[in-house]
Amino acid sequence: MEEKRVATLDLGNGKKPTEFPVMSGSAGPDVIDIRTLHAKTGMFTYDPGFVSTASCRSNITFIDGDKGMLLYRGYPIEQLAEQCDFMEVCYLLMNAELPTANQKVLFDKTIHGHSMVHEQLARFYTGFRRDAHPMAVMVGVVGALSAFYHEAMDISDASHRELSAFRLIAKLPTITAMAYKYNIGQPFVYPHNDLSYAANFMHMMFSTPAEEYRPNLILAKALDRILILHADHEQNASTSTVRLAGSSGANPFACISAGIACLWGPAHGGANEACLSMLEEIGDESRINQYIKRAKDKNDDFRMMGFGHRVYKNFDPRAKLMRETCHEVLGEMGLEDDPLFKLALKLEKIALEDEYFISKKLYPNVDFYSGIVQRALGIPVSMFTAIFAMARTAGWIAQWSEMISDPEYKLGRPRQLYNGASVRRVTPIELRK
Ligand code: ACO
Repeated sequence: MEEKRVATLDLGNGKKPTEFPVMSGSAGPDVIDIRTLHAKTGMFTYDPGFVSTASCRSNITFIDGDKGMLLYRGYPIEQLAEQCDFMEVCYLLMNAELPTANQKVLFDKTIHGHSMVHEQLARFYTGFRRDAHPMAVMVGVVGALSAFYHEAMDISDASHRELSAFRLIAKLPTITAMAYKYNIGQPFVYPHNDLSYAANFMHMMFSTPAEEYRPNLILAKALDRILILHADHEQNASTSTVRLAGSSGANPFACISAGIACLWGPAHGGANEACLSMLEEIGDESRINQYIKRAKDKNDDFRMMGFGHRVYKNFDPRAKLMRETCHEVLGEMGLEDDPLFKLALKLEKIALEDEYFISKKLYPNVDFYSGIVQRALGIPVSMFTAIFAMARTAGWIAQWSEMISDPEYKLGRPRQLYNGASVRRVTPIELRK
């Protein structure tokens, strides 16, 4: 039998030290179970940004930032990206195992069967300004899905949770493409169930009533890879947002909408858009050094977008795969000499050799390359984060469902270190100075 380990906390106040169990997972650092800390000591822990806090148990995704390792349900991301499609990865995230051939056929069919949105939902779009950012539209429309599915919103019912997951995974491409079509003033394009998930999305983005778009298989595969690489990433900011929102018992559509809102930020999913905008701003190789200098300047809040990661301090395995796809796509499109791509490669080289970037362990992350790939696919920059949201929905909904079925699940309620005024009296308004 494994020996029970404890961590001993001596508060240096003359009282007997307190013991806390140490727990081990199947991989990764052990954790100190401090659930009884407040009851035993009257204290809280202080950990802004949760850099040392495990907020839950999870069996879905594992990251080893130092080794540059990312596993979905135990499978290395490299193998999944090379051997599976996004639908298999969705199935894996939801069900903990890869599908058999028959299970895959059934899963594809189920997702296809939910790909359309209610016609009334289409009318929501006209409530937005034509130039609204697609992420603003996504936050609203995905949240609004909750108004359509009252009959299956009992979150304690596993079959309702599964149905919501199918609906979200199936409808996100439709909703995302509709946000784009609305923005450019073209009619919405209905999904086409003969196409793969990625090819269907491209069809809904680029077909018009006047001309059908036939997705190029290499490009559809590149998009599929973007989706696989972005499908889940442990307890990142948006996933933690989904879990926190869901911990109150909120419905899954509202929770995913909260995740989309969080993902939008430039330090998270907005990085690929911010990276492309930054490359456009740099504009020319001759200006790279000027921007590198700004990134190092403590008095300048400029950051080199697409570099650095909270967890990967060696390399981002997704970046390696995306870099490969980037070269494939640009080759297929004959864009090897595209000035922006050349500029990105030059920036990558200079930054990788720069002492500041080396010492701070700042490497290109997945979004550095995914932006370039998406641009080559003809996807406008403003849609990049929306496509990230489409992919991450699979992870969010798997994590949400895992949380709801966890017997240890509790309402998320962090505490704080209060630094405000102590108790004081209200002075009558005429006496206030
Ligand atoms: N450019 C310049 N300096 C940077 C960068 C960057 N991109 N990222 C971090 N640093 C510096 C910081 O200034 C800090 O310097 P200091 O030690 O002198 O104070 C040091 O590196 C550590 O930075 P932190 O912000 O503390 O590191 P953290 O792990 O919290 O940051 C983050 C991670 C937010 C991703 C950061 O690297 C960043 O802002 N990168 C740019 C945005 C980006 O590409 N985000 C995408 C993340 S991937 C994803 O969401 C899929």
